[in-house]
Amino acid sequence: LARVLTFDSGIGGLGVVAELRKALPPGTGIDYLADTALFPYGEQPDGVIKDRCTTLLRDAEARFKPDLIVIACNTASTIALDTVRQAVTVPVVGTVPPIRWAARETRSHVIGLLATRATITRPYVHALQRDYAPNCILLAHGARGLADMAEHIFRYRSLDQAELDQELDYLFSQKQGNQIDTIALGCTHYTFLLPALRQHYPDIIWLDPAPAVARQAQVMLTRSKIKSETGRQDFFTETSDSKQYSMFKKEISNFGFSNIK
Ligand code: DGL
Repeated sequence: LARVLTFDSGIGGLGVVAELRKALPPGTGIDYLADTALFPYGEQPDGVIKDRCTTLLRDAEARFKPDLIVIACNTASTIALDTVRQAVTVPVVGTVPPIRWAARETRSHVIGLLATRATITRPYVHALQRDYAPNCILLAHGARGLADMAEHIFRYRSLDQAELDQELDYLFSQKQGNQIDTIALGCTHYTFLLPALRQHYPDIIWLDPAPAVARQAQVMLTRSKIKSETGRQDFFTETSDSKQYSMFKKEISNFGFSNIK
């Protein structure tokens, strides 16, 4: 059975883990690396993220010996995917905003993108629009607060509705924003806001790429030679807050992790 290393700046990639558990054979080892020490990635300079992901994942490959690495973070993938691929020996699956999918779904041809402030500035995102959504207007909002809200809802199951509406307003109040019918989630943390988003904005088609990322991981694994012998399930993070830690531990056990290191 294969061993997969999933990586994000925090809990966002756990939405991808949930999909990986559905897509991959039972017993597949999934380790999770949460670089919470540098969270939020969306507020860090590009060079910092690029160097950090490259070094971290190169070291993680040597230590955990995965058969596949899944970067379950748009902010990391849109800047560091190429350099990480050059630095490691196993295949790497990235996560990027589902702009192509949004272009297929929209009827109004005005699509929204919610992502971190770093991601929306990236040439990678502009290229996705140019190549896959040339006939659409793409309105993007780089949200400062949504990833934090997702971390909060994950631990405490509560949400500040006014704050969520405020972030969404930044998107809908843009020119032609009232014509948006489809919104692409360009940050894996937002998977955890999806129930609230769907409930409060039921007319919007919400697109979360987590299932597609898991499918891609499955395809890559069937093509590669599996070398790991046992599947372990470890969750690696850095935190100094013990109250948060106990909440966190309880929640991540729902994703199949009993071991936090
Ligand atoms: N989960 C990350 C992403 O997909 C971003 C969260 C952060 O700002 O660290 O972009």
